[in-house]
Amino acid sequence: MRCLLAVVAVAALLATAASAKPVHVQANTYDFLMMVYQWPPNVCATEATAHNCVIPADSHLFTIHGLWPSRNDTTYPQSCCSSCSFNATAVQDLLPQLNQYWPNLFAEEAATDFWSHEYLKHGTCATDVASLDTEHSFFATTLGLSRQLNVDAAFAKLKPSTTTGYSLATVQAAIKAYFGAEGYLTCETYKGQQLVTGFGLCVTKNNFAVFQCDPRVYGENSCKSTSDLFFLPF
Ligand SMILES: *[C@@H]1O[C@H](CO)[C@@H](O)[C@H](O)[C@H]1NC(C)=O
Ligand SMILES: *[C@@H]1O[C@H](CO)[C@@H](O)[C@H](O)[C@H]1NC(C)=O
Repeated sequence: MRCLLAVVAVAALLATAASAKPVHVQANTYDFLMMVYQWPPNVCATEATAHNCVIPADSHLFTIHGLWPSRNDTTYPQSCCSSCSFNATAVQDLLPQLNQYWPNLFAEEAATDFWSHEYLKHGTCATDVASLDTEHSFFATTLGLSRQLNVDAAFAKLKPSTTTGYSLATVQAAIKAYFGAEGYLTCETYKGQQLVTGFGLCVTKNNFAVFQCDPRVYGENSCKSTSDLFFLPF
């Protein structure tokens, strides 16, 4: 919050110097938040050559990727606070939860690299939401939202398998039956199979309610209806 105010203050000073017109800081304008998850076995299969991908022993389901301020037109604000830095000490109390539910699967990096990236790129753009206005609240609120959404329950009937996949329609129907809205789905093709690597839900910025977001957002789904989608087992 403080950095945002500083940006506004600087912008206001510059505006006063240049002209009398009010300046609107557009960087962090957005329409909704996207709660994004990853399916670790699929991420590790598709990233195997690029990363030393390791799934924590206590992760057996979807893990958090991030909470992203997003726009209906599929653009999004990013890195909204150039003077901010990630402070691991500030989220010390959340480390057990972060390590379990929001792990960095890339073992060649520091665990904190993922959180730092997510906070600085996305979190700093959501500081207008009261419960996301500090680094600690960004992580605590996102962890709490994830617990509340309980996305694994939505996928309970879609059994992980290397041989049985599900049509895109079946996957979306399961998501819609549970949340009342479709999901944003990303896939990567690996050994001829479409692996679901990411899953996102659009939630409102005022009360984190899941809603059916703009069709343009679903238009960005990279999972295709032409072949089945797979969730590899852990
Ligand atoms: C990091 O967070 C801790 C705990 O909240 C705080 O005491 C410390 O001053 C912070 N460090 C920086 C550089 O902001
Ligand atoms: C964004 O999309 C949602 C859902 O379709 C709609 O309710 C909202 O008015 C849209 N916002 C803008 C700024 O277009």
